[in-house]
Amino acid sequence: MISVAATQQQIYAGLDSDLSWSEQQLPERERTKHVHRLHPYLGKYIPQLVEELFRRHVPARGRVLDPFAGSGTTLVQALESGLHSVGVDIAAFNCLLMQVKTSEHKPFVLDHELRDALARFERGEGDARDKSAYVREWFAPQAREDLLRFRSLIGEYEHSDVLRIVLARAARSARLTTHFDLDFPKVPQAGPYHCYKHKRECKPIEKADHFVRRYTLDTLTRLKEFSRVRTKRSVEVLHGDAGDLDLPGLFDAVVTSPPYPGLIDYHEQHRYAYELLGLDDLRQREIGAAERGTSKAAIQAYVDGIVRVLGSCGNVLKPRGRFVIVVNDRRALYPEILERSGLVLEQRYQRHVNRRTGRRAGEYFEDVLVARRS
Ligand SMILES: C[S@@+](CC[C@H](N)C(=O)[O-])C[C@H]1O[C@@H](n2cnc3c(N)ncnc32)[C@H](O)[C@@H]1O
Repeated sequence: MISVAATQQQIYAGLDSDLSWSEQQLPERERTKHVHRLHPYLGKYIPQLVEELFRRHVPARGRVLDPFAGSGTTLVQALESGLHSVGVDIAAFNCLLMQVKTSEHKPFVLDHELRDALARFERGEGDARDKSAYVREWFAPQAREDLLRFRSLIGEYEHSDVLRIVLARAARSARLTTHFDLDFPKVPQAGPYHCYKHKRECKPIEKADHFVRRYTLDTLTRLKEFSRVRTKRSVEVLHGDAGDLDLPGLFDAVVTSPPYPGLIDYHEQHRYAYELLGLDDLRQREIGAAERGTSKAAIQAYVDGIVRVLGSCGNVLKPRGRFVIVVNDRRALYPEILERSGLVLEQRYQRHVNRRTGRRAGEYFEDVLVARRS
C-alpha cells in the first residue's frame, strides 16, 4: 500500500503547488474558519484558494463580481482581502446566508438579541402551530415543536436574518435522516437503522432544542471572529438569474466557481430552509441542476446557460479585467463555453482538491481558467 504522504507528493508533481494543499498544510478548521462554517453548503470552494487568486489577478482595493456566489466564499474573502464585491445567486437561501455572513452587524445588539431569543425559547415561549406537510413529515413531534416555537420568536428582532440561519441549521441537523445521508436524504427515516458512519445502530433525531442552543452560540462566536478580520469594503448580494445581470459600475475581475451539470441541486439541498422560512424558489432558473440529469439536451442547456451568464458578466468587466473560473471540467465543455462567451483563455492552473470526508470523499482535480475578453 502506498502511504498517504507519498501519494500526495506524486499527485502534486506538475500541479500548481501554491493552489494545492494537503490536509496537514490546510486543516479543515482553517478551511472553515469564522463565517465559512455558519451553515453547511455542498459545493463550495475554499477561502485560501480565493485569497491566492485575488492576489494573482485582482488589483489592490479592486472590485470583484461572483455571478454564482453560492455560500459567499468570494464575498467573505473579498472583505478579508480589502476588495469590493458583488455576488449573485439564483437560490434565495444562499443569498440569505451570504447576507448574514457579509453584513456589518451591530455587535452589542447582535449579542443581546441572540441571547434574548435563546432565553425566551428555553423558557418555553413561542407558538408551534403550522400546517406544512413537509414539517410534519420530516421532523419528529418534539423537534417540530422546538423548531416552530423558535421560528415564531425570531421575526421581531433587528437581526432576524441571523436567527433564520440558526433556525435553518438546527432544522438541517434535526431532520429525520440517517447520519450518513445528511446531504441528500430522499425519504424520512422513521425508526432505528444501522449507521454506516458510526458502525452501530443509531436513531433519528427526536428533538431540536440542543441544536438551537449550540448553533445560536456558535453563530455569535463566528460572526464576532469575522468582524475582527473584515475590512469595511462594500459588498452587495443580489438574488436572481446572473444571466439577467444589470449591474452598476465596472469590475476588475469575475472570480467564480460555476455549477456543473447533473451534480448538485442547489435549491433542493436546503429544502428545509425554503419550507420553514417561506423562501422564493427559483429552481427552474438554476443552471445544471442535478434533477435535470446529463442527457445531451441537459448538457446543451447547461452550456447555453453558462454562456449567457459569462457573456453578461463580460459587459461589466473593465477592459483589462480577467475572468477567473474554478471548474472541474470533466466533460471538456469549457473550450466551447469560453469561445461562445467571447473569451480567450490566457492561463490554466491545475489544482488538487483534498476531500477528507463524506460520500464524495476521494482524490479529485480541478482547473482554474484565467480568461480575458477577445
Ligand atoms: C458551485 S456553486 C458556487 C459555490 C461558491 N463558490 C461557494 O464557495 O460557496 C454554484 C452556484 O451557482 C448558483 N446558480 C445556478 N444557476 C444560477 C443562475 N442562473 N444565476 C445565478 N446563480 C446560479 C447555484 O445556486 C450555486 O449556488
